[in-house]
Amino acid sequence: MLKHSFSSYCFVLLCTFLLACAGGNSQTEGSEHTEEQAAPSAENIALQESIKRGEAIYNGVGLCVTCHMADGKGQEGLFPPLANSDYLMGDRKRAILQVLNGAVGEMVVNGVTYNGAMPGMGATLSDEQVADVLNYVMNSWGNENEDMIKPEEVAALRE
Ligand code: HEC
Repeated sequence: MLKHSFSSYCFVLLCTFLLACAGGNSQTEGSEHTEEQAAPSAENIALQESIKRGEAIYNGVGLCVTCHMADGKGQEGLFPPLANSDYLMGDRKRAILQVLNGAVGEMVVNGVTYNGAMPGMGATLSDEQVADVLNYVMNSWGNENEDMIKPEEVAALRE
């Protein structure tokens, strides 16, 4: 009798141990799984969609591609690069104003001085289009800006 209850005690212990191990394992797998499949946030989806629209504007109605080129590298000495541009990424408000109003005169981009003229696009592009094209260039060719530019920010900077 004693022997019987002792062996069932061992059996229960062994089961508990095995269950604990299995449980532990499946928990780890479970959490890895969740991480991989983590649903993108609403903000992230909105940014991805804005970037997609922005690409079409860059290559279309915004005309950006004609000067800054498809690879965003511009043409040294003539059209400054947007790819890895310290100037573009350095000041968000200035970047919005750049697209709205264009610019004339000297600017130094990645150590190279440009003295050209960019036409303002504010009359052609809506607030949303300006935001979209900036979200595209600020998330392409090595640039990264997860803090999405919103149409309201553009509206606030229009004269
Ligand atoms: C007709 C040619 C032309 C077009 C079209 C054009 N740009 Fe420019 N862009 C320039 C020039 C030239 C400069 C430098 C101006 C200066 O020297 O003052 C510039 C400067 C810039 C800068 C700041 C410098 C840098 O490289 O970071 C940004 C940002 C920019 N452009 C974005 C855009 C975007 C976005 C579009 C499309 C909506 C666009 N540009 C359309 C010619 C152009």
